[in-house]
Amino acid sequence: SVIYLKDYEAPAFLVEQTDLRFELEEEQTLVRSQVRYSRNPGCVSRQRPLVLDGHESLELQRLSIDGEVLSAQDYRREGEQLVIPDLPDSFTLECVTRIEPQNNTALEGLYKSDGMFCTQCEAEGFRRITFYQDRPDVMGLFETTIVADKQRYPVLLSNGNLVDGGDEEGGKHWVRWQDPFPKPAYLFALVGGDLEYVEDRYTTCSGRQIALKIFAEAKDLDKLEYAMTSLKQSMQWDEQVYGREYDLDIFMIVAVDFFNMGAMENKGLNIFNTSCVLAHPKTTVDTGFQRVEGVVAHEYFHNWSGNRVTCRDWFQLSLKEGFTVFRDAEFSADMNSRTVKRIEDVTLLRTAQFAEDAGPMAHPVRPASFIEISNFYTLTVYEKGCEVVRMLRTLLGAETFRKGSDLYFDRHDGQAVTTDDFVQAMADASGRDMSRFKLWYSQSGTPQLSISGEYDAEHQRYTLHMHQSCPASADMATKQPFLIPVAVGLLDPQGGEIPLNDGATTEVLELIAAEQSFVFENIPVEPIPSLLRDFSAPVKLQFPYSSEQLVFLMQHDSDGFNRWDAAQQLAVGIMSGLIGDYQQGRELRLEPALIRAYEQVLSNQGLDKAMVAKVLTLPTEAYLSELAEEIDVDAIYSVRRFVRETIAAALAPVFLQVYHDNNLVEEYSPDAASVARRSLKNLALAYLMATGKEDYLMLAQQQFDEADNMTDSQAALTLIVHSEHRQAASVVLESFYQRWQNESLVVNQWLGVQASDPTAGALMRVQALLEHPAYDSTNPNKIRALIAVFCAQNILNFHNSDGSGYRFLADQIIVLNTQNPQIASRLLTPLTRWRKYPAERSALMKAELERISVSGNLSRDVFEVLSKSLAG
Ligand code: ARG
Ligand code: ZN
Repeated sequence: SVIYLKDYEAPAFLVEQTDLRFELEEEQTLVRSQVRYSRNPGCVSRQRPLVLDGHESLELQRLSIDGEVLSAQDYRREGEQLVIPDLPDSFTLECVTRIEPQNNTALEGLYKSDGMFCTQCEAEGFRRITFYQDRPDVMGLFETTIVADKQRYPVLLSNGNLVDGGDEEGGKHWVRWQDPFPKPAYLFALVGGDLEYVEDRYTTCSGRQIALKIFAEAKDLDKLEYAMTSLKQSMQWDEQVYGREYDLDIFMIVAVDFFNMGAMENKGLNIFNTSCVLAHPKTTVDTGFQRVEGVVAHEYFHNWSGNRVTCRDWFQLSLKEGFTVFRDAEFSADMNSRTVKRIEDVTLLRTAQFAEDAGPMAHPVRPASFIEISNFYTLTVYEKGCEVVRMLRTLLGAETFRKGSDLYFDRHDGQAVTTDDFVQAMADASGRDMSRFKLWYSQSGTPQLSISGEYDAEHQRYTLHMHQSCPASADMATKQPFLIPVAVGLLDPQGGEIPLNDGATTEVLELIAAEQSFVFENIPVEPIPSLLRDFSAPVKLQFPYSSEQLVFLMQHDSDGFNRWDAAQQLAVGIMSGLIGDYQQGRELRLEPALIRAYEQVLSNQGLDKAMVAKVLTLPTEAYLSELAEEIDVDAIYSVRRFVRETIAAALAPVFLQVYHDNNLVEEYSPDAASVARRSLKNLALAYLMATGKEDYLMLAQQQFDEADNMTDSQAALTLIVHSEHRQAASVVLESFYQRWQNESLVVNQWLGVQASDPTAGALMRVQALLEHPAYDSTNPNKIRALIAVFCAQNILNFHNSDGSGYRFLADQIIVLNTQNPQIASRLLTPLTRWRKYPAERSALMKAELERISVSGNLSRDVFEVLSKSLAG
């Protein structure tokens, strides 16, 4: 059934104290909860019963109120709820449930990962542990006692501070943890296992000593240093940039192998997917290091944006996620190259989030309704939500934005609030009316912004005419005009920045109407505008630039993001033309503009190497697909390949020089400059390999054999495996596996390289890998590495016109639907885009969706995505 934002009601009862006791055993876990409830004075009706959430898998063993055992007539169990009527104004409810974490394959609630007990309670996992008001606006103080076998589970953790513990008979031991901060159930965590840890300390700005511990299996203990460093940097950054100090005496992170998402910000006890916390030069690529740094920061920052101030209900998810993504993005920008980070984030937004906005699951940053909240941990809530917060800062300026965030934390500390409350704090701090801005939270879809320029030489006046519109989305037909901050600069023909109205070279224009013009006075020559600098709003921009003007912007724009974007637009324009040629059966010819522009970028010694690598990366197939009216997979693939090969052939000597110049013998370091060198070197190698010449295959093989770090070794592996040199491909694949078979995360990369192999027969190889000992169909990381990568990145093979790719995915989803609904539902994404493909493929995709829908026993997760995809 559908849940609506407009139906929100405050809870009938508040929780004062929650005492939990877990007896962890091999065949079962007994959970006793003692919860002190009192009627919510803010709730109008005094008659309302206590309604507790509880998953159907809970075996209720005992229920008592103030010590009196309830009999079956005293309560009703209705579906996922337990209803207790006729209650006093305050009482203690004791509840004993029996659960089987060892059989919990959904990985929600309490489950086992590789013999270790762990939890994932966000969003609604706590109801798989005990009966509770499992909603974020019910906040209580938690005390948790854990009893378990001492030998198997020497480490027993929960939120807050360790206050007591000891041994018990039968080889057991127990511990007690107390969390001094009230919190909703989704922030509860428990871990029990045979873990080791690294330890460090952090002294906060006010001089408090914090113990930092990161736990992992013994074999991974050497991969925790980078996460620890990132954690300390995050703690310091949040003090300096947001004035936020850590509040407990201990902060713990635990690495687990089986995890549906990236990581979880449980109070004082973050639980991480190993892929987001383990890092070592030998096993982790550069982007992996950056991911660890970013996710460690993200989860840490949640301690304020999420935990101290939390969400009233799950419609407000972006309150904590959009804001926290913004905070971690700025942190990463400060730690590394700001422009490169921005390019990466915008690329993700433009490909995947724009596609979501245009698809059947479109929803506003603050959704208005859902069937299953797990389906709304989306790019829209996270990444577009981040852009919305960024726009607030752009509109208010950094200083006022900081005042607003201080006011927000101060005003709402200890509360469960809404995105409206967040915007209100910004409005109050700035004295501005933010009502129009709020449409970014309530309206779905990607706005389209078309701009044209008009120069009046006589009056030295330049005018920008802007027009905004937003196409109908699956969930919303018509939209009001948004408040769009458009950061603008004007370049003179020499490439200099023309001073604008207030003397600065960038001005933030505020577009609020569908149609609006902005006038710049004292403009001595006709300028070339640099628009939407630093991507100042999540919109699709159109301006009638000529190729020459784009090349000019690539060379002269002072805004690094726009220099890169000019190159993208140039390439997109050329490739779109070629896609048309391909479809008409015309011979493909690459005009020289792109090659000449690339050559210039390569020869410009002054440029940041990471930027050079970004500029020279062609728009991805995913981005070209998003831009296309109808996705012609063969045309997109063939054109991109043709352009890559033509550039490679034309510039091979330059690329070879670049390769050697950046192939230094040095100790591995994940700092920005070293990452930049490796990315440029491996981009050069990729172009060289695209020539198909044996010499360069040997260069790649040499790099594969001699690399002392995973970035270089994986780059070479991927290039060889994705080439036509099939013999060489199987040799490197075999040797890579032999070397790394005991490193689970490296094996995932090995799976992923094969899953994304564009050469013919990839599906058969992927199917064979399902039977390989390295694969585990219950581990989300393995499923993602093999199945999700094949379906999202291997467009040629997934979209094979015989429908085999679609059939394969549907078969997998039907099995995963019961085993792990969250993962099953996420895997559906490529099929949900069926309407964007030409008739034959479209029909094949739709048929597979229909086949899943009649396969029986659909989880809520899969049902929601399916029904929305097939609707209308
Ligand atoms: N709050 C976690 C994060 O940082 C994500 C939890 C996702 N859980 C889920 N069931 N989808 O971002
Ligand atoms: Zn988050």
